[in-house]
Amino acid sequence: MKVIIDCDMGIDDAIAVAYALALQDVDVLGIGSVHGNIEADVAAENTLKLLKVMNRTDIPVAVGAPKPMIRPLSMAKFVHGEDGLGNANFAPSGLVPSDEHAADQIIRLARENPGEITLITTGPLTNAAIALLKEPKLPQLIPHVVVMGGTVEHPGNVGPVSEANIAHDPEAAQIVFSAPWKVTMVGLDVTMKTLLLEQHLDAWKQARTPLTEWLLRIVPFYMQFYSQSLGYMACAMHDALAVGIAVGKVEVSESVTCPVWVNTVVGPGLGQTVADRRSESMRATSEPYYFIGESNTEVIMKVDGDAFVSHLVDSIASYQVR
Ligand code: BDR
Ligand code: CA
Repeated sequence: MKVIIDCDMGIDDAIAVAYALALQDVDVLGIGSVHGNIEADVAAENTLKLLKVMNRTDIPVAVGAPKPMIRPLSMAKFVHGEDGLGNANFAPSGLVPSDEHAADQIIRLARENPGEITLITTGPLTNAAIALLKEPKLPQLIPHVVVMGGTVEHPGNVGPVSEANIAHDPEAAQIVFSAPWKVTMVGLDVTMKTLLLEQHLDAWKQARTPLTEWLLRIVPFYMQFYSQSLGYMACAMHDALAVGIAVGKVEVSESVTCPVWVNTVVGPGLGQTVADRRSESMRATSEPYYFIGESNTEVIMKVDGDAFVSHLVDSIASYQVR
C-alpha cells in the first residue's frame, strides 16, 4: 500500500514514521515536513536523521510550510525538546531535503500514482491545504486522507476543546475536512488511550538495533512530559495510531461518519473539531445557520489501543536494516 506522510517530527512522529517503514506491506513514497512541534526545516532534518538510521535515504523528504496559513507560528518544544527529538543532540544528518515544496511533492506523487495513495498527516494541515488549493483535482487523485488531529469527547490538549495539529492551523484543517475526499480523523478520543508504557521499552532495550537505540534516546523526554498529567511514565502514540489505522493494523470498534467543522473563531473554542453526530433530519434543520461544506469524515471513537501498541513495539523491535 502506498502512502505519503506529512509530519512535524516530533518524537511521536518519529515513532510513526519508523513504524510505517518497518511494515513490509507499506510503501512510503515521500515524506513532507511542516511547522508544528518545531520548525518545518528542523522537522525535515529530523526525518533525514531517522531515514539515515533506518538506511532508507532513498525516500524523498520535502520541506513544507514554515507557518500556518493565517495565524502566527506556535510550536511545542516543551513537549518534544528544542530539537524536536527530546534534546538527544544527534549529529547532523549530512543529508539535504529535496528541492520541492512538500505540497508540490504531494501533488506530484498523486499525479504519478492516481487513486493509489493514502495521505497520512501527523502535523498541522497546512501542506495538505496548500496542495488542495494548488490542485483542486487532488481529491480525485488521493482517495483517502488519514488525519491525526482533533477531538470530539476527550478534552483538548492546547485548549479546552482543541487538539494541537488542528489548532495550529485551523483554516488549513477546515479546507482539508471540507474537500470531497474521504477523511478519517484519528483524534485524542483514541490517541490518548493508546499509550506506550515504560515496560514496552524493554523490548527495544533487548533488541539493541540502531533504530531502537535511537528511539530510546528520544522517548524519555516525551514520557516525562506526559507523566506530569498521567501520574506515571507513559506517552500517547498519537501519530503512530494514525499510521496504524491508515494501513489497517488497528481494530476499530467504534466510529461515526459525519460532517466535521473546524472552529476558526478566535477564543477558547479556536481549533475545535465540531462533529455533527446528529441524524440527517436533525442536521437539515440547522443548515440555514451554518455552512458545513461537503465534509463527511470518519471519526474514530474506540480502538484496541493495547493490541496496537504491542504490534507497534514489536514491529519496530524487529526492524532490520536492509
Ligand atoms: C499531536 O501534536 C503533536 O505534539 C504530536 O506529534 C501529535 O501529532 C497530538 O496533539
Ligand atoms: Ca505530530
